[in-house]
Amino acid sequence: MSNQHRATPLSDHVDMRIVTADTEAEATVTDQTDRNRIVQLDPDHPGFRDPEYRARRNRIAEIAFGYQPGQPIPDAPYTAEEHDVWRVIQRALQPAQARHACAEYRLSVDRLALDRERIPQLREVSEKVQAISGFRLEPVAGLVEPRVFLESLADGVFLCTQYIRHHSTPLYTPEPDVVHEIIGHAVTLGSERLAELNRLFGAAVKRATSATELERLSRLYWFTLEFGVLREDGELKAYGTGLLSSAGELEAMQQAELRPLDPDAASRQDYDPTNFQPILFCADSFSAMYQTLRAYLA
Ligand SMILES: [Fe+2]
Repeated sequence: MSNQHRATPLSDHVDMRIVTADTEAEATVTDQTDRNRIVQLDPDHPGFRDPEYRARRNRIAEIAFGYQPGQPIPDAPYTAEEHDVWRVIQRALQPAQARHACAEYRLSVDRLALDRERIPQLREVSEKVQAISGFRLEPVAGLVEPRVFLESLADGVFLCTQYIRHHSTPLYTPEPDVVHEIIGHAVTLGSERLAELNRLFGAAVKRATSATELERLSRLYWFTLEFGVLREDGELKAYGTGLLSSAGELEAMQQAELRPLDPDAASRQDYDPTNFQPILFCADSFSAMYQTLRAYLA
């Protein structure tokens, strides 16, 4: 399968694999060669052979390294090509979301009214989300440890990558990028009820005392807030951010094997993050999903 046809970012926050940022090469380096070492890309990453992309990734990583919580997030230096990537994704997503996104999500899209032509800056998205649910976005250079990511949710903080995928593969990224963060997570955090569930996940992870408990909560997050589906007027709709930020995932979810939403079962279910999800957990309605997760996480 070519990269173009693979799903959007499946290696994600709650996934256990590691990180793009090399913490030893801090933002103090000045030489151009060394700067390229701040963000490590795999040789098969679409941007690996693009020195300008890598330099920009490093500049954006420096924003995250230098960020002080509570300060406005500095603007990322996106190029015209990168704004084109955002536009291409929006064009693919709009019809797919109209058919497959749950009502709560579509309401939040309307409320936030984010720019569809240019990549919005995290600062403005964070301000809009915060005004609705109290959640704020904070920039990170790449994937962080699941515990760090999940625990920050308890404090109403969503750790957010700021770079965008390489322009050669607009519908594919091997890692979460600003498309997944904004179109997926930030929009759902513009719903009070989905924001509350994120906080409850964070609080549950803070209480977790073993690696097994953390792993189970990570899996539950994956099968609900990342890849959750529900019924609305008899139709299958997505509320999970991994589905909502990828037109390919939204179409593929119709072919998945559906299981009733059972948090205990979901927390024990393994998944392969590198392919479309063959198994999804489906709630009878949005409020059934909300009540079930709320009761389980409390
Ligand atoms: Fe995610």
